[in-house]
Amino acid sequence: MSDPKKLYIKTYGCQMNVYDSERMAEAMGASGYVTTDTAEDADMILLNTCHIREKAAEKVYSELGRLKPLKDARPDLKIGVAGCVAQAEGEEIMRRQPLVDLVVGPQSYHRLPAMEAAVAGGARALDTEFPEEDKFDRLAARPKARRGPTAFLTVQEGCDKFCAFCVVPYTRGAEVSRPADRVLTEARGLVERGVREITLLGQNVNAYHGAGAGGDWTLARLIRALAEIDRLERIRFTTSHPNDMGDDLIAAHGDCDKLMPYLHLPVQSGSDRVLKAMNRKHTAGDYLRLIERIRAVRPDILLSGDFIVGFPGETEDDFQDTLRLVQQVRYGQCYSFKYSPRPGTPAAERSFVDADTASDRLARLQELLTRQQREIQNAMVGRTVKVLFEKAGRMPGQMVGKSEYLHAVHVTGSGAAAGDILPVRIVESGPNSLAGVPATA
Ligand code: 5AD
Ligand code: SF4
Repeated sequence: MSDPKKLYIKTYGCQMNVYDSERMAEAMGASGYVTTDTAEDADMILLNTCHIREKAAEKVYSELGRLKPLKDARPDLKIGVAGCVAQAEGEEIMRRQPLVDLVVGPQSYHRLPAMEAAVAGGARALDTEFPEEDKFDRLAARPKARRGPTAFLTVQEGCDKFCAFCVVPYTRGAEVSRPADRVLTEARGLVERGVREITLLGQNVNAYHGAGAGGDWTLARLIRALAEIDRLERIRFTTSHPNDMGDDLIAAHGDCDKLMPYLHLPVQSGSDRVLKAMNRKHTAGDYLRLIERIRAVRPDILLSGDFIVGFPGETEDDFQDTLRLVQQVRYGQCYSFKYSPRPGTPAAERSFVDADTASDRLARLQELLTRQQREIQNAMVGRTVKVLFEKAGRMPGQMVGKSEYLHAVHVTGSGAAAGDILPVRIVESGPNSLAGVPATA
């Protein structure tokens, strides 16, 4: 029998792309491919791309340029582009980069094996349709040895919010939720394969409203059903819109033990004027009141968010409102970006803040966010947290895992194996992680 073909997938962008890459690897496994960690020995290279900001798309074109010598040396090598750049610019990619054999949008991954067969025959293939069928059903997860005790599980895709800056409603399409029983079946399968923590994914995951027994299921109801699964110890979800933070989901943060005390709840700006121009449909006050309600039921919850600075029309006063909001909320972790105009979105038509001003604001915001993050992380020293161990660390006898609050924690001499959850007393706070000792020692 000939050696299996090798597939190398490079994943950019969000966690949903990480999940999609795993599903594509499984689908291609059925076509005789095994995955490899190096592009050099691959028979097929897939770039799973992100289109959220301009730089992300440019990275794809430079990566394709870097692959040219490989393709020149081995003309049989197949190169594909998947993900949101594929969806948004598929035809342009085909035109601009003759070395690309295949372009596949996020809604068509179940068609990848058929496309590979066409490409193997020397054709070029492009599929950026939004087909009717559920791609995840077609990409049914096959039993497969898993590497770690944590997994992503996509429950919802697409977005109907149309924030004025964002390409997601165009690249991932309208909001679609997977039926609850399919999610539960997939989760049980993951747990059987050793998974102890599941992160539910969706572009707007708290808008989840899947079909299921007894009518419409909300995310909170789904979380409570998942919490019934033995040996599934931890549940997380990302990412959420403030307007979809329902009462039942807030309540779950208070009384569902398996739901971890961490919430990524982007607000984007602290200025009502800018929020309106962004079409966010909430004010800074609405957001602050929401945070108050969540903290009332779970005071120790670690909050995370996203911010955009330099949105068209943002003044220094608007920016000061953002700094003020950050000070009021106190985030444990945050992502912040300079506004990047995306073709086809309403904001791209407006005149933007000059680049130097935007860079200056980003630096000031990041300084504040980093300071907050460090303070919250440093305050963990002396506390006992529960760590889900994921893998061996770099030092002998060291294991690395995550606390309930998603802080990375290094522990030496615990005797823990991947998948164990043990109490750990935090003794040190480093630049990007905590160090601890077994709490019983
Ligand atoms: N420019 C800059 N940041 C953006 N984001 C989304 N679109 C843009 C854009 N055009 C950010 C938002 C979002 C995160 C995933 O990326 O903060 O929450
Ligand atoms: Fe984009 Fe999120 Fe707004 Fe949807 S809610 S348009 S994904 S930023």
